[in-house]
Amino acid sequence: MNASSQARAPVLTIDGPSGAGKGAVSSRVARALGWNVLDSGAVYRSVALAALQQGLSARDEAGLVELCRDLPLAFEAGEQGIEVILDGRPLGDALRAEQVSVMSSQVAAIPAVREALLDLQRSFQAEPGLVADGRDMGTVVFPDAEVKIFLDASVTERARRRYQQLKQKGQLKEQGEDVTFDRLFRDLEERDRRDRERAVSPTIPADDAVVVDSTRMTLDEVVNRVEQLVRQGLCPPD
Ligand code: DC
Repeated sequence: MNASSQARAPVLTIDGPSGAGKGAVSSRVARALGWNVLDSGAVYRSVALAALQQGLSARDEAGLVELCRDLPLAFEAGEQGIEVILDGRPLGDALRAEQVSVMSSQVAAIPAVREALLDLQRSFQAEPGLVADGRDMGTVVFPDAEVKIFLDASVTERARRRYQQLKQKGQLKEQGEDVTFDRLFRDLEERDRRDRERAVSPTIPADDAVVVDSTRMTLDEVVNRVEQLVRQGLCPPD
């Protein structure tokens, strides 16, 4: 039997812009199915955090590629979402720091870094299946995935959700400044534009992806819809 005829674990890809709810949906669906999870945004964030810890600059392409080659990264789907473990240590909120967000979008724009992270991301494909969340999961990393979803929502709704999230956590102040809804809205618009227009792996739906617009849906409704699409994708009607 050659490699191409060997059975491989099924993959569900969930791509989409920042704040569309990919993380929450992926975590819920992965737990329900008992599948593995890949939070590819956290991969880029982990590279960024490790680079900052080692004093590497975003312009040090060779150093960053070297760092990507043996990144000891693991994910666990827990009650609170997906926990990221680097070198045996949970990273927690450190991955969400502003400095890490900025560095991660810089390293994610380097083609050689994206290339160096392909094998690591693909190594998450294991039985009984994988839920892969990101920007280019269905277009570049897992083009043969059984089920591809592009999860979208209006900028206003995504900014509103982010605002509520920060409010609940008591994090509406950053470096002494109020985080306003307007600022969140403008930041999201700006990031969307950068992600959509970048030359490598822009955030666009794969040709064979199903677009799910969650603007007027609850998390439960989105999870149900995704689970329905997975059932159809794995056992298509004749
Ligand atoms: O989804 P996130 O905010 O955690 O992603 C962090 C950064 O990584 C963000 O700038 C987008 C980028 N990213 C990417 O380029 N490709 C992916 N598959 C996932 C994230």
